[in-house]
Amino acid sequence: MGFIANLRKVNPDFILGFVPTMGALHEGHMSLIKEAKRKADLVVCSVFVNPTQFNDAKDLEKYPRTLEADLKLLEENGCDFVYTPQVEDIYPNGLDEPYEINFAGLDEVMEGKFRPGHFKGVAQVVERFFRIVNPDKAFFGRKDFQQTAIIKHLVKVKSLPIEICIVETSRSKDGLALSSRNTRLSDEQLKEALIIYKTLINAKELIKTAPTVAILKEKLISFFNQGNLKLEYLEIVDDDTLQPINNTQSSCTCCIAAFCGPVRLIDNMSLKA
Ligand code: PAF
Repeated sequence: MGFIANLRKVNPDFILGFVPTMGALHEGHMSLIKEAKRKADLVVCSVFVNPTQFNDAKDLEKYPRTLEADLKLLEENGCDFVYTPQVEDIYPNGLDEPYEINFAGLDEVMEGKFRPGHFKGVAQVVERFFRIVNPDKAFFGRKDFQQTAIIKHLVKVKSLPIEICIVETSRSKDGLALSSRNTRLSDEQLKEALIIYKTLINAKELIKTAPTVAILKEKLISFFNQGNLKLEYLEIVDDDTLQPINNTQSSCTCCIAAFCGPVRLIDNMSLKA
């Protein structure tokens, strides 16, 4: 990255964009690359399946790995550099090296509750990447709503001078949020998974008239359960604190995690009027 430092010396306005990924890239990732290209002079993408953020060894093992196709897609979409480190490059002192960060409660709900240690692993790898790549702007998808809050918190508490840019969720034409995990779904499951999107759209509508958040949640859960997925959680949370809300308010988001067969999917939607 020495030549980036030189570019910065020559042009102090030079902007380096960074898109961290775990590979198995799809159109959703490409929307991050495109946004990064709009907002930065050069774009680096990392492809690294981070072991410390998986609390389930089977999930880590099954995570799709498609490096050759990823590199082709990145080249076609004009990504300037791809960083594909090995585990030893990122964790030279082993995977058990202590890492501390206080998430101020952001990690205690939703994903954090069901995937203990997940966000610590995410923050650990993202901080490591930020220190190696040293970007000016980093790009994350809104599909991982809680992750975006965690990363914004990370740069704040670690005083990292990086702008975090959040990019809207890319969806299939039917509304399913694009995810690397979708490659593990059969055609039938891809159709069944649409209940997540339909429930989120329903939330946007029902919040206008529901007398309480409890009643809104009850209605949404019973709508969701008409489908075949196994709901892990459905929460309506404050956009900043991520805590479940008790009264309907203007800046809140409906978040869902559910199993479609063995595949765990997440999605969310802002319920702002
Ligand atoms: O969102 C992801 O793909 C991962 O959590 C990230 C940010 C690349 C860290 O491994």
